[in-house]
Amino acid sequence: MKPIVIANWKMYFGLGEAEAVSRSIERGAEHIHGVEMVLCPALVHLQAVSHELNHVKMGAQNFYPREEGNFTGEVSVRQVAEMCEYVILGHSERRIFLHEKDDMIREKIESALRHHLVPILCVGENNEERKRGKTFQILSTQLKNCLQKIILKEGDHLIVAYEPVWAISGSTNAHAATRADIEKPVAHIKEVLHELFGIHVSQTQIIYGGSTSPENCKDIFETPHVAGALVGTASREPESFLTIAKTLSQLHEERR
Ligand code: PGA
Repeated sequence: MKPIVIANWKMYFGLGEAEAVSRSIERGAEHIHGVEMVLCPALVHLQAVSHELNHVKMGAQNFYPREEGNFTGEVSVRQVAEMCEYVILGHSERRIFLHEKDDMIREKIESALRHHLVPILCVGENNEERKRGKTFQILSTQLKNCLQKIILKEGDHLIVAYEPVWAISGSTNAHAATRADIEKPVAHIKEVLHELFGIHVSQTQIIYGGSTSPENCKDIFETPHVAGALVGTASREPESFLTIAKTLSQLHEERR
């Protein structure tokens, strides 16, 4: 599995902007080697953005975990799987604003894998939980609830994004995490994944998300077990996103 950078465009961009930014990222991606790059635009822009991409993969920000049915306003897993290879699930913004719970996220992960999508499961503690020393407990609970009875078959791939809520731009007093902040939580996630998947842990990757920028990404990518990033704000600026991808590519080259 290649190291990976994933753009989470959230609810940003009109159609023209999404196309223009995708085009610029695609042009830059031609010269970046050894790193998987993924764009997750709004669902209504998937098709238009996919026409701009060749070296960059497509991801969705959500779906409804049924093939089809009477679910007005929803987009099904099958519809998303026709267009995408990846899907972001369990993002804290959906947990907070849409009240999405671990059991729903678990159902989505199972459904994603059944449709050969790579789930990008987001986990992370909020500021208060961090201050109360609950980080490991929150991570264990989220991982175990969302991944219980999930079996990774041959060829399946699962990404876990460690996204401390206090580091995500837009959350109150957000501030970027440092390597020192994330080292232990990431090692803990790795342990839990070992427990859950045994030898199949090699089919999982851990990435980081939360105020990742061209300035702080090297520090983050040097953290043991961190295979890349889920990038929000900086992914809407092609130069920034490409610089983050290039930094990961260079580090990877040096390690080989
Ligand atoms: P951010 O968003 O990079 O703007 O903090 C990351 C995310 O929410 O996935």
